[in-house]
Amino acid sequence: MRLHHIKAHAFHAPRLGEVQEFTDVLISLDETGTIVAVTEGADHPDALVLPAGQILIPGFVDLHVHAPQYPQLGSALDLPLEDWLQHYTFPLEARYADLDFARTVYDTLIADMLALGTTSALHFATIHVPATNLLAEICLSRGQRAVIGKVAMDDPDACPDFYRDASATDAIDGTRAVIDHIHAIAGKDGLVAPAITPRFIPSCTDECLHGLGKLAAETGVRVQSHISESDWQHGFVRARTGRSDAESFAHYGLLREYSVFAHGTHLSASDMELLRDHGAGVAHCAASNAYFAGAVFPLRRALDIGLNTGLGTDISGGPNPSIFEAARMTVAASRIRARGVDADIAADARGTAEPAIDMATAFHLATRGGAQALGLPVGAFEVGMKFDAMAIDTLRAEGTIRPFGATGLRLLEKVLHTASRPNIVVVWTDGVQRVGS
Ligand code: GUN
Ligand code: FE
Repeated sequence: MRLHHIKAHAFHAPRLGEVQEFTDVLISLDETGTIVAVTEGADHPDALVLPAGQILIPGFVDLHVHAPQYPQLGSALDLPLEDWLQHYTFPLEARYADLDFARTVYDTLIADMLALGTTSALHFATIHVPATNLLAEICLSRGQRAVIGKVAMDDPDACPDFYRDASATDAIDGTRAVIDHIHAIAGKDGLVAPAITPRFIPSCTDECLHGLGKLAAETGVRVQSHISESDWQHGFVRARTGRSDAESFAHYGLLREYSVFAHGTHLSASDMELLRDHGAGVAHCAASNAYFAGAVFPLRRALDIGLNTGLGTDISGGPNPSIFEAARMTVAASRIRARGVDADIAADARGTAEPAIDMATAFHLATRGGAQALGLPVGAFEVGMKFDAMAIDTLRAEGTIRPFGATGLRLLEKVLHTASRPNIVVVWTDGVQRVGS
């Protein structure tokens, strides 16, 4: 069902530090779902009018998802990263050679993500070309805006025989095959786009990383990977290459505009500048960082230097598929980091004197911030952007928001802190309804 005009009580955060409330706005779209007018107080006879008690916000952008890991969400997170990968994650991802298994999981995941208000996502798939193509087809048919990559991992010293690319050439050819397939089914600026996806430096040979860098330069396709995630991973790369992760990605030609690197808990100030200067961004995965890194990404520092940053669930390195939860964890982790400096435990808690991130900032990161990192024309209600949005019923008894008369930014804050899936009543991408009756 295509929307042409909607009247609503709406909020968005088009720029860092700027949340805007529209108490009664008319948003008009063209036939492609692009916003053509945003007018406070205007009316249109054909407008869909959201009922009192409902608010409209931009859809969320999840900058880091491992789609194949959905079956193990919320389990085995007591292990260190390297054990978790070898004993749980690689055996699970190997199962996506089976397209029936892939279809069941991917279809459930994309439906659930949309129902949670995640209208855009950056997905890692697996090493398998057919299953990665299938994920792209499911995103396209269900209507999730998605950037998707076949995982490249070819180093026999780091990856098990049952789950790795047979050679660097296989990893690069498979990546190219997925890029071609996605361009064929979605077009070059369609709802779904490809990403070059080296899993992380420890899993790839130099030959593979150089080849993927060349492919990125040739095709202009975005890159995604993990960067400076844990002490173990960070140390491993330094020992193997003599460089930091960020310097290594730059060396291989993989630091590029609109590319996104997950975690970054151990990025130095100069690493952050290197990412920023190449137009790359960071997926901040606060929950997963707590489990695997035992640390908090220096988000305030990243924002202060103008490094593109958005939020990621890291399904299944984090235990929750909702960007509402990622925003809550972002705020909580930031407050712990900021408070540490006042206490005796400062050093142990990795505390700093940085001011904490508030929910309004997390809202920007969950919407326009994530979109900007990927160069997607979404995340705010502005002319020229695509209409990706969700309607939230703040009064729904089955939901978890109890407004008690809150208004303005206090209402928005309450919604962001307390909403749950039953509160999300309609979800649109490209102006087409994807969730709701
Ligand atoms: N590093 C390499 N692979 C992974 C993964 O699947 N999840 C996380 N969190 N980190 C990784
Ligand atoms: Fe990850």
